[in-house]
Amino acid sequence: MKRSIRIDFHAHILPGLDHGCEDVGVACRQLELAAQQKIDVVVATSHFYPHLHTVESYLRKRTEAMQALKMQWKVYQSMVPSSKAERQSAPKVLAGAEVLACAGIERMEGLQRLCIEGTRVLLLELPFAKQQEAALIASVCRIQQECGIQVVLAHAERYSYRTVMELVEAGILVQLNTASICSLRKNRLCRQYRKAGCVAALGSDIHGIDKKYRSFAKALKRLGGAAEEIMKRTEQLLLQNGGRDEEGKCDCTGI
Ligand SMILES: [Fe+2]
Repeated sequence: MKRSIRIDFHAHILPGLDHGCEDVGVACRQLELAAQQKIDVVVATSHFYPHLHTVESYLRKRTEAMQALKMQWKVYQSMVPSSKAERQSAPKVLAGAEVLACAGIERMEGLQRLCIEGTRVLLLELPFAKQQEAALIASVCRIQQECGIQVVLAHAERYSYRTVMELVEAGILVQLNTASICSLRKNRLCRQYRKAGCVAALGSDIHGIDKKYRSFAKALKRLGGAAEEIMKRTEQLLLQNGGRDEEGKCDCTGI
């Protein structure tokens, strides 16, 4: 039976955009680790902080980083003695962002441009618990309900169940970090979200060259058929929100 497409929905792999990847060499090594775990698509979700960045400057830097990675990845693949199978399974990279929510963010000019390229899907994270006041939650719900954007909440297991379910009620979907699925304590909440049927994506949330892709593989193994179901849902999420090529396949520009 053909396995479903394997998508890492949350990864800090773009060089120089945030603390997740210091240079293009690290980015290539991260992609190689993803390839070893047979990941087909990596969504590059560098941090976007509305109090520090403008959409324009962020997107300019992101385009430069994507181009640098594209060029260096070709060189890297020709130099690193990886197997033919690994070279063939080199993941496609989609440009996205991990946007930090704040009250009023739904009115930020250009918010839609931070969606995963070619789609209307936005990965959003919440600030630390104490700042999750009602105005912030209301803003996140308005993005979902009034801006024509499908919001996916990053690493939902970090927040309170009550807050997450309030967002889910508004139509927001949830991404879980695979390292949390491998953790006895954090997996309890992950299970609850899976049971609630709101999990639409899994992410490594890789920063640097850490062990996150090992956790990714371990989590997929642990979840078994449920992982396949989530991956199919992620693909549908991208397809139904614009990430479709002329042949109707899941596609964005990517590298
Ligand atoms: Fe992240």
